[in-house]
Amino acid sequence: MLTNEEKSAIHEFFASKGLPTGRALTFSDVSLPENYSDIRSRSEVFNFETRLSQNLNLSIPIVSANMESVTGLELAVALEREGGLAFPPQSLPIEERVELITRISRADSALIDEPLTTKPNTALEDAKKQMSQFGVRSLIVIDKNKKPVGILSKRDWLYEEKDGKSVGDLMSKKLIVAALGIDFKKAGELLRKNKIEKLPLVDKSGKLAGLITANGLFYKSRYPRATRDDKGRFLRAGSIGVGQTFTAKHLREVEAQIKNGVSILLIDTARAYSVNTEEAIKKIKKEFPKLPLVVGNVSTAEGAKFLFEIGADIVKVGQGPGFVCRTREVGVGVPQLTAVAECAVIAGRYKKTVIADGGIKNPGDLAKALIVGARAVMLGNLLVRARESASPMFVDEDNRPVKNYTGSASFAAQLARYRRGDLKSIRRPEGVTQVVPVTGTIHEIVDDLLRGLASTMAYLGVKNLGELRDKGRFIEQTAAGHFEGVKKA
Ligand code: XMP
Repeated sequence: MLTNEEKSAIHEFFASKGLPTGRALTFSDVSLPENYSDIRSRSEVFNFETRLSQNLNLSIPIVSANMESVTGLELAVALEREGGLAFPPQSLPIEERVELITRISRADSALIDEPLTTKPNTALEDAKKQMSQFGVRSLIVIDKNKKPVGILSKRDWLYEEKDGKSVGDLMSKKLIVAALGIDFKKAGELLRKNKIEKLPLVDKSGKLAGLITANGLFYKSRYPRATRDDKGRFLRAGSIGVGQTFTAKHLREVEAQIKNGVSILLIDTARAYSVNTEEAIKKIKKEFPKLPLVVGNVSTAEGAKFLFEIGADIVKVGQGPGFVCRTREVGVGVPQLTAVAECAVIAGRYKKTVIADGGIKNPGDLAKALIVGARAVMLGNLLVRARESASPMFVDEDNRPVKNYTGSASFAAQLARYRRGDLKSIRRPEGVTQVVPVTGTIHEIVDDLLRGLASTMAYLGVKNLGELRDKGRFIEQTAAGHFEGVKKA
């Protein structure tokens, strides 16, 4: 139940934005009237920083949908390079989720706690297999006492015609090591001075205890917006479903992800305003009180309030707006602009935040979601079209590259989980699979969205997302008005 103050806060906010109450709207129901702008060129707008929670800032307001066809290793790395955040699918078996998280943490990392190693007598063939399995380009070679004795890099074996040789025959023995605990500045100087890419770290007894990589250390110059932690690694989010009852097995899955460096957890279910989610949040909070929680999905102020009250830090909003969603077939859900706006007002009162999940088709939708208070948008449809998304690419009958975009509650997704033994029975599907064109790389797709957002911001005369939230307001439009803007006969 909302209090009278909460209800009037919603009314006031809606009135200030030009939104009706008692009637729900979605993105294309509104347009954005211009404001006087002192921005001479769109290129003056480049700050898209957003505060997702107290300790979590992102350089861009974009997170990936935790869907199996969307978020895998390649997409996660590419998106976090751009400044977004990747959420692993909670439907993946826990071993695969943990492996994904581990591989994200290793990719382009400045400091690796447990570097991948090999031994001098290992066959080159096996070392190559290990490198390709983990997506790395070199291995530290250690002796039987775990002391580093060499490095095997791609250039050491690139011109080897046959695989018969052993690691010891090919590795580079010129090794510069540093003591564990060396600060990043000094490590950078060592790497530069010696023109090397890898700096193995050793403990007091000379055993290998870590690795600093030049690629990871000098990352900001290549990817200034990248989402990194204080050890120079990509930030890792975890994910968990809630099931019919939240069991000890679920808690162990949360623990396994925390052990692998997850610093924020998504609790994801189609019906988060529920006893199941309540149980999950309470149990997780009891065991891991400091772990920030993103919880969803809901689409009403009451649902958001419920989740904030019991410990959610960020609420994910959206029931049915997504490209492959069919939840509205059962009659439930609130058109997305209104849903996000209501939940964001409640979030503000708890000093918490919301993510708008689903239905974003272009930069205008992104801007509208941010104006009603979302701190980020979750994207499936736009990101699955990237070369790096987890869905395999194939060609359609016209020879164009395409991918399958599979709704998490679709028959296909449920069947896959049923066959793996992760689902007891198949429910009536609330999602579908669609074939979508491949439109570019993550960099190109994100860049297009951000350049569009910069344009929206230039029209509205704002230079950051805080100003966008303050100054953006809406004018309702008819279906004909919307049509006028998108289809030109
Ligand atoms: P977009 O529009 O970006 O939306 O593709 C992504 C979001 O869609 C949700 N989702 C589903 N919703 N049935 C639903 O009703 C489904 O099968 C389904 N699969 C994904 C999800 O919230 C995702 O982030």
